Amino acid sequence: MEQEILTLQSSAKELLASVEDTAQLEEFRIRYLGRKGQFSSLMKGLAKVSKEDKPRLGQMANSAKKEMEALFVVKQQTLAATNNTTASHGTLDLTLPGRRPEKGKLHPVTQIMNEVCSIFESLGFSVAEGPDVEHDHYNFEALNIPAHHPARDMHDTFYISDSILLRTHTSPMQARIMETQQPPLRVIAPGKVYRCDSDITHTPMFHQVEGFLVDRDVSFADLKGVLTVFTQKMFKKDLPLRFRPSFFPFTEPSAEVDIACVICEGKGCRVCKKTGWLEILGAGMIDPEVFKMVGYNPEKYSGFAFGLGIERIAMLKYGIDDIRLYYENDLRFLSQF
Ligand code: FA5
Repeated sequence: MEQEILTLQSSAKELLASVEDTAQLEEFRIRYLGRKGQFSSLMKGLAKVSKEDKPRLGQMANSAKKEMEALFVVKQQTLAATNNTTASHGTLDLTLPGRRPEKGKLHPVTQIMNEVCSIFESLGFSVAEGPDVEHDHYNFEALNIPAHHPARDMHDTFYISDSILLRTHTSPMQARIMETQQPPLRVIAPGKVYRCDSDITHTPMFHQVEGFLVDRDVSFADLKGVLTVFTQKMFKKDLPLRFRPSFFPFTEPSAEVDIACVICEGKGCRVCKKTGWLEILGAGMIDPEVFKMVGYNPEKYSGFAFGLGIERIAMLKYGIDDIRLYYENDLRFLSQF
């Protein structure tokens, strides 16, 4: 019996060493370690040995089986590890072309912002930037919009505290710059502005470019000239502009400037609300009250200012009929520009 155990153990070891795949390993398990396998038969054979030899031979057979079971587990793990690497190598097709990483691009609104700024720079304007979180004083008071003035209602302001807010327009830069610099001035101030407003032509955060020019003898004709040259350069064609009388507390006279709707070419669509025109900016001659607040002599100086909406320009330029598309971060939309 002792010899039988040793022979079985060595033949099992030999076979296990020659196993190369999981199918062979399963065959080995059934043959040696299964319920009807050779180690089970060996155990059954112990019934026939004498009482005196039984404990010793029983222990010997048991430890031979345990050793084979442990060696079986080791083999199983080795095969699994080899299979994993073989499988991953098997699916790797080295002849396939590599995947090109997507190229990043400037957001279309940033592209338009850059273009607008470079047109005004070519007309001699310099660029200044100011804070998004602004004092009520610069956003309203210094622009001739005192507390409780009805014009404040039009701005749908996000307040941070009683005196601090998210700027509702880039016009505060007029006051900030005039306060510290003397005419002649020719400045644009690009940046983000915020209003509690959202529909197909309005977003709660949007971009404006404020522009203003202060010197002696500046007239409304100069304003019209600058804005006409700007639209010609921006849209590369002679699009009709319309100056509509309007009201801003910091300009007098004031106008809202519309451009013929390029989406419907003036016929009327949902973007231009069937009017054929789309408002792109507000403008006017700087109110003498604003000059007085920054210490300029309104008898000596005059000037114009305008504030244009960058998203509106981008909508017109690219024929987009819903402003919100710019901010949904859908790469299928954004990658077209
Ligand atoms: C102003 O913000 C004035 N500060 C402009 C101005 C500057 C007038 C200097 C006179 C002198 P208004 O609220 O009309 O004006 O906005 C200017 C432009 O911003 C609009 O013509 C429009 O193109 C754009 N705009 C306004 N609200 C939104 C919005 N919620 N979403 C996207 N664009 C907007």
